[in-house]
Amino acid sequence: MISTKCISIQLSLLFVLVNSLSIPNHIVSNSPIQNNNETHLKENQFQLEIENIIRPAFEVPKASLPVGWDPNILSQEPFPDWLRSFTGLTEWPGLDPPYIPLDFIDFNSIPNFEPYNQGICPGTRDSCSFDCYKCVEPDDILSCDKLSQTFDDGPSPATPKLLDHLTHKTTFFTLGVNVVRYPEIYRRARDSGHLMGSHTYSHKFLPSLTNEEIIAQIEWSIWAQNATGNHIPKWWRPPYGGIDNRIRSISRQFGLQAVLWDYDSFDWQLLSNQRTEQQVLDDARRWKSQSNNPRGLILEHDGALQTVNVGIGVNEILGSDQKKVSECVGGVDYGRVFNLSIKSI
Ligand SMILES: *[C@@H]1O[C@H](CO)[C@@H](O)[C@H](O)[C@H]1NC(C)=O
Ligand SMILES: *[C@@H]1O[C@H](CO)[C@@H](O)[C@H](O)[C@H]1NC(C)=O
Ligand SMILES: *[C@@H]1O[C@H](CO)[C@@H](O)[C@H](O)[C@H]1NC(C)=O
Ligand SMILES: [Zn+2]
Repeated sequence: MISTKCISIQLSLLFVLVNSLSIPNHIVSNSPIQNNNETHLKENQFQLEIENIIRPAFEVPKASLPVGWDPNILSQEPFPDWLRSFTGLTEWPGLDPPYIPLDFIDFNSIPNFEPYNQGICPGTRDSCSFDCYKCVEPDDILSCDKLSQTFDDGPSPATPKLLDHLTHKTTFFTLGVNVVRYPEIYRRARDSGHLMGSHTYSHKFLPSLTNEEIIAQIEWSIWAQNATGNHIPKWWRPPYGGIDNRIRSISRQFGLQAVLWDYDSFDWQLLSNQRTEQQVLDDARRWKSQSNNPRGLILEHDGALQTVNVGIGVNEILGSDQKKVSECVGGVDYGRVFNLSIKSI
């Protein structure tokens, strides 16, 4: 019999695995915008389209249909009364959270860019897609003035080991579906002073979703964090870096700011033996040695033991002189923090 814990780990692994498609580097380096030669531009545009079509984007299972997902694993965090009365539901949703309309969302202000599937990029840069073109908007956080680690896809059964070893305050971008399954681990990370951001509710590729589905991914992740940690997130990271101006327009309406990354550890490749721990650590040493005061945000994961182990190694290399994302930009940790010991009248 497979234990509940085992299945949960499998799910976490999956979330890490599907992160493999984060940044199509070849597209970035073929950037037509930096080429003034018209012929070149057309050729590159053509090549870009070809590569988008043949890019093996679906070699790994998609997050929307994770293999090994067992709907019988119950969330541990009780479904709060305020959420029951607001949504009419009685339990936390699974991987397809329902859209619950919210008064403050202005649909008219959401730009009408076409949804696109993972790996099938829009032909133009108009929508400022990060996953396709590494395009960022002024309010996106791409880097940090101190080279700092960040951890996505948790909390997971592997997270406590990371918490035991980290020598600095770091940033976790958590999945709502995992927050309510591992609430004690979530609260332990929060109580240790780490910054808890959102990584959506169930790790879908947002550019492929309707506006309502994107709202559902964001609202339920906020509710999971609020129910579990009594705070509303301020910082979020789109799964696979999947963000464009349609998605930004929605996340801004929740008061969320997008955090991307400029260094990818590719730590998830440890799970399929495409990469060794040594290679990840060598990269970290190289990034650190680039200057006397190295800067950057490193993408890592706390969804699996392998990525946690290498995360501890990276921490040993970089040391404790790191920042939380909020500190990188001189911002607040949360959109709002509720103090439950103050009784409301
Ligand atoms: C533009 O690029 C094409 C294709 O590489 C090349 O044949 C042509 O000489 C270039 N023209 C200029 C003005 O650089
Ligand atoms: C957050 O939780 C508090 C209860 O602790 C609740 O009153 C409030 O409505 C919630 N807000 C959101 C946006 O989830
Ligand atoms: C919460 O409120 C109580 C009562 O006013 C206060 O003593 C406590 O310091 C507050 N805690 C935080 C974290 O602000
Ligand atoms: Zn992720």
